[in-house]
Amino acid sequence: MCGIVGAVAERNITAILLEGLKRLEYRGYDSAGLAVLDAAGQLQRLRRSGKVAELEQALRETELGGRLGIAHTRWATHGAPCERNAHPHLSGNELAVVHNGIIENHEALRRRLQAEGYEFTSDTDTEVIVHLLRQKLDALGDLAAALQAAVKELHGAYGLAVISTRQPDRILAARSGSPLVIGLGLGENFLASDQLALRQVTDRFLYLEEGDIAEIRRDAVRIWDVTGVPVQREPVQYHEGAEAADKGEFRHFMLKEIHEQPKVVQRALENRLGADQVLPQAFGPQAAELFARVRNVQIVACGTSYHAGMVARYWLEALAGLPCQVEVASEFRYRKVVVQPDTLFVTISQSGETADTLAALRNAKAAGYLASLAICNVGTSSLVRESDLTLLTQAGPEIGVASTKAFTTQLVGLLLLTLSLGRVRGTLDGELERTLVEELRRLPTRLGEALAMDPRIEEVAEHFAEKQHTLFLGRGEQYPVAMEGALKLKEISYIHAEAYPAGELKHGPLALVDAHMPVVTVAPNNELLEKLKSNLQEVRARGGELIVFADREAGIENGEGTLLVKMPHIHDVLSPILYTVPLQLLSYHVAVLRGTDVDQPRNLAKSVTVE
Ligand code: F6R
Repeated sequence: MCGIVGAVAERNITAILLEGLKRLEYRGYDSAGLAVLDAAGQLQRLRRSGKVAELEQALRETELGGRLGIAHTRWATHGAPCERNAHPHLSGNELAVVHNGIIENHEALRRRLQAEGYEFTSDTDTEVIVHLLRQKLDALGDLAAALQAAVKELHGAYGLAVISTRQPDRILAARSGSPLVIGLGLGENFLASDQLALRQVTDRFLYLEEGDIAEIRRDAVRIWDVTGVPVQREPVQYHEGAEAADKGEFRHFMLKEIHEQPKVVQRALENRLGADQVLPQAFGPQAAELFARVRNVQIVACGTSYHAGMVARYWLEALAGLPCQVEVASEFRYRKVVVQPDTLFVTISQSGETADTLAALRNAKAAGYLASLAICNVGTSSLVRESDLTLLTQAGPEIGVASTKAFTTQLVGLLLLTLSLGRVRGTLDGELERTLVEELRRLPTRLGEALAMDPRIEEVAEHFAEKQHTLFLGRGEQYPVAMEGALKLKEISYIHAEAYPAGELKHGPLALVDAHMPVVTVAPNNELLEKLKSNLQEVRARGGELIVFADREAGIENGEGTLLVKMPHIHDVLSPILYTVPLQLLSYHVAVLRGTDVDQPRNLAKSVTVE
């Protein structure tokens, strides 16, 4: 999605703005631009459609520079992805605005402002903001006051930054529904939509809260809350190493992140496992008392995180004896729900800023849930700050748009949740609990063994390079794993992929099976294996090619029409975590063979901060 960077310093800040934009590239965008106040106090703007590299090239060919500026990567919502619609947008060559989010009443505002003589040069919703601000600035004479007045007329979501020739020493920022963070330097200050953009210049941040307005100058930051009252936000020191934004020896971030899984799963387990149980404090001090009251679980998430929730449902019902519902946030937020008494509301999100998931959480607050728990990768995110309980997944920054290590660590977090709930409720057999804790400890080693299958998976991937469609099959908790495998494949290779519970095959999708439709199956050695094998026969009998990821003792052999990848043996309960890894690698290699943009697939964004 869109990204914002801003800087005010004593030095030329164009390099800082560009570096910040590059660090936000992974989020997905289609144009980029910046505006600075030059030495003469004039507003200078440069925009390009396409990649930040094109903006950088254009910048090299100009003298453009300044000590205060704002920059943006745009992911088109209103208006085509072209230079004319790229941010910053200007009004009267004295105000420049960059904006993330969507202004829902932009049409009415545009009509009004046009009638008052403001001239529009783009098709964006953002442009209404800059003209509205100019109108308020003309009336009030102060940028902070103008912004406070303008945001009262905006409906929708925004994280925005403004600079003006009239008060050339400051950047104004406003946040409502789209995150913004202020980076604190020595004699210089910064702004961004994600702290990752600023880690080359600072590790101290102030996180703006919903409704905040900030005035950022070289040597001072002032913040007003949603009611207009001046407030202090506590600075947070960020510790994650700067190397997180580096591909290291790997060709793509996605591959690096797939290979990081043993390490990050290890980290996700640290300080959370006792000798034979999940430590009660893993979910915070008040969790044990709360968990004892839980009678139902409602999980809400989007995309890959939703698939993690789907797996958790099998665990929560089977191991903790808790009825569990799972729903995608974009549906849940607009549905009238009947809340069962004592229901724990669980959100799952890598970014913690996904607009639909956040909206669902906000709705849930008024709906009578027992408490909210966020399973999230970003400790400073809105989702974490607005939830009662949190479990951080500790995956470290995930740069590849296709989620990999975030998913496996979410699964670890959800299994810890299941074991904790099962223990406090007395529904989990003690022997099984000990076994699963032991298996969790061994999981990083097992993941390493799965990664060692990479050369074989690369071979198998060659069978896909020319295909247009694929079916993914799984049974039980492997069904969501198949869904996740299909999502990964379509996201980064653009091959059409559908996942089905294997038992559904003969109820329709079998009609699609022929030699051109490979069928990918995950087959751990569990009680559903024999049934799954019958489903595989149904495919072979129709000439379908099988790609099977099976336990080495599953009794499935490589042969005519069946490509087998033998997997290390793993306890049934943990098998969804392990079997995810080869499917990630399969998608990765297929995408590389097809020459797609693995880390930034077309049309997609890393953090979906608009509906
Ligand atoms: C797919 C993917 C997306 C996200 C979804 C939710 O690889 O990454 O489907 O899972 O957009 O994002 P988060 O987890 O940040 O809420």
